Amino acid sequence: MPRVGVVSGAVAAGLVAAGAAATAQATAQHSRVVAAVQRRLEDTTYQRLGDLGTIDTLSVLPLVDRGVQRPGLRGEPGVSYLVRAGSEVLLFDTGLNLFGRSHSALVDNAEALGVDLAQIPAVVLSHRHDDHVGGVRARRAGSFAFSGDPVEPPGLLAYAPMPLTHRSAEVRVTTRATVLAPGIALLPPLPAALFWDGTPVLEQALVVNVRGVGLVLVSGCGHPGATAMLNLAQAVLDIPLHGVIGGLHLPVRPWPRHLPQALTGSPRPPWRPLSDPDIDLAVARLRAAGVSLVAVSGHDSTPYTMSRFAAAFGAGFREVQVGDEIRVEGR
Ligand SMILES: [Fe+2]
Repeated sequence: MPRVGVVSGAVAAGLVAAGAAATAQATAQHSRVVAAVQRRLEDTTYQRLGDLGTIDTLSVLPLVDRGVQRPGLRGEPGVSYLVRAGSEVLLFDTGLNLFGRSHSALVDNAEALGVDLAQIPAVVLSHRHDDHVGGVRARRAGSFAFSGDPVEPPGLLAYAPMPLTHRSAEVRVTTRATVLAPGIALLPPLPAALFWDGTPVLEQALVVNVRGVGLVLVSGCGHPGATAMLNLAQAVLDIPLHGVIGGLHLPVRPWPRHLPQALTGSPRPPWRPLSDPDIDLAVARLRAAGVSLVAVSGHDSTPYTMSRFAAAFGAGFREVQVGDEIRVEGR
C-alpha cells in the first residue's frame, strides 16, 4: 500500500505541475491576444452603411436554444434561429448537435414547428464554435451542418466571418458590414479574446431595421460583449436601436449547468470569472442605447443573469426559448 500511495502522490504532483504549466502558458498567450484584440479594435475605422432600408415585420423563431416553450421541443446549449425579415428568410447559426446525430435538435425542432429546412435559402454563421456551427465534427472539418446527415439544401448561401468549406453551399466570408437585402445587414466581425483560445474568435451579428421602430440586433454567443456590439452597430448605422435578441455570454454563477461556458468561453482566467459588474455594464450599455426589447439566450447566460435582466428591463425582457417566436411589427 505505501508503494501505491507514493505512486499516486507522484502522479498527482505531475498532474498539478502539468496543469500549472498549461495555465501559465494560457495566461501568457491570453495577454498577447488581449493586447492584439485591443490594438485591432483601436486601429479599425468602420465604414458607415448608407441607407439600409427597412422591412415591415421581423420574426425570430428560435429553433435551438437551451430553454423550450413547451414539451415536445428539444433544448440544447446551442443557437439556431429562423429569421424572417419582410420577404427574406435565413437561418442564424445551426445549433450544437453534440453527438452528430441525424436527428439533431435543429432537425427535430424544425419539424415540430412546421419549418422546412429544405427551403432555407441562406444561413449566417455567427462564429466558429461547436454550439453555433452544428457540432464538433462540423467545426473540426472547418464547415457547418444542420444534422449528422447532409440535409443542407442545394443552392444554400452561407455567410461566415471565417473561411469555411461545405460540400454544396456557397460560402461567402464576411469581413465588413454587408447588406444582405434591404433592411438586413451583417455587422463587421468583431474579435474577442477567450482565455483558453490561442487566437481571437471572430463573431458577427445580424441587424434588421424595422420600419418606424429601429434596429434589432441578433447575436450568437455575444463573445465581444454587449458594449462592443452596440458600439459597432452605432458606428456603422445611424439608426436607433430597438432590441437585442440572442447570446450575451454572461454565465454569472455558472454552477453546475453553465460551467463549460464559464470556463472554455470566458474572456477571463478561471480565477477572475464574469460576475455582477459585467452584468451591470451590459445593462447600463443597453439602457444607454435606449433598447426596449432584450431577449436573452439561456445557452450562455445563467438563470441568475436572466433574473438580473428581468429586474432591469421588466416587460421588455424575455428569455429566448425554442418555439417562442419574437415578432417586431413596423409602424
Ligand atoms: Fe455559444
